[in-house]
Amino acid sequence: MNLARKTMNAPALAAVYERAWRPTLFYLASGRTTGTDRHDAVSALRLSGPMKVLDVACGPGNFTRYLSGYLTKGGFVTGVDYSAPMLAKAAADNASPRVGYARGDARTLPFADGTFDAVCCFGALYLIPDPLVATREMIRVLAPGGRIAISTSYVEDNLFGSASSLAASLSGLRLFDRDIFPKLFDRAGLTEIDQRVHRFMQYVDATKPRSDQA
Ligand SMILES: C[S@@+](CC[C@H](N)C(=O)[O-])C[C@H]1O[C@@H](n2cnc3c(N)ncnc32)[C@H](O)[C@@H]1O
Repeated sequence: MNLARKTMNAPALAAVYERAWRPTLFYLASGRTTGTDRHDAVSALRLSGPMKVLDVACGPGNFTRYLSGYLTKGGFVTGVDYSAPMLAKAAADNASPRVGYARGDARTLPFADGTFDAVCCFGALYLIPDPLVATREMIRVLAPGGRIAISTSYVEDNLFGSASSLAASLSGLRLFDRDIFPKLFDRAGLTEIDQRVHRFMQYVDATKPRSDQA
């Protein structure tokens, strides 16, 4: 297990992640606050009504419960993460009647095709050993007409980018160029693909078309 994965499995990180670690590191990486990221997540996923939502690599549930607040009766957000300490923290701090947590691997999501109306994965694909496999899994479990939104690392395709990628890979982190996720979404047949880059983070969202729109 590499350093990044070890860190995510540490109870000490789970204890400080939502209040200190995420706000600080993501602000440095993107110039954005958690509040802004949460607000944009709701609009990217077009949350409303009794939607079924999946939050992949949910950590301590810091987005999971927030997203559930935009759903009406019958709506539900499932958070999946492989880290037991993160899930314990999620259950302690971010429980709600419209939220549930499960332990699982983003690369083999334990859900049938087309289960969710919206699927997201924030701040985690750069930690997952097979990030493109995980992204395809998210698309698989998304229902036709549903929305997908991710946020992950971004690096420019130049010498500085190559050096940064090398340095990051030593600790188990991966940096992605501008094309990889929009191209993957396009090849999977997704539409309405939108990408925004903020410093070292990229935000990509898209729609899975209904069969009559494909
Ligand atoms: C930086 S946290 C992100 C938490 C939250 N989504 C956020 O945006 O703040 C990354 C999470 O990814 C989880 N993770 C990493 N690899 C995973 C995998 N293969 N399957 C499920 N979760 C994974 C880690 O356990 C950790 O909780």
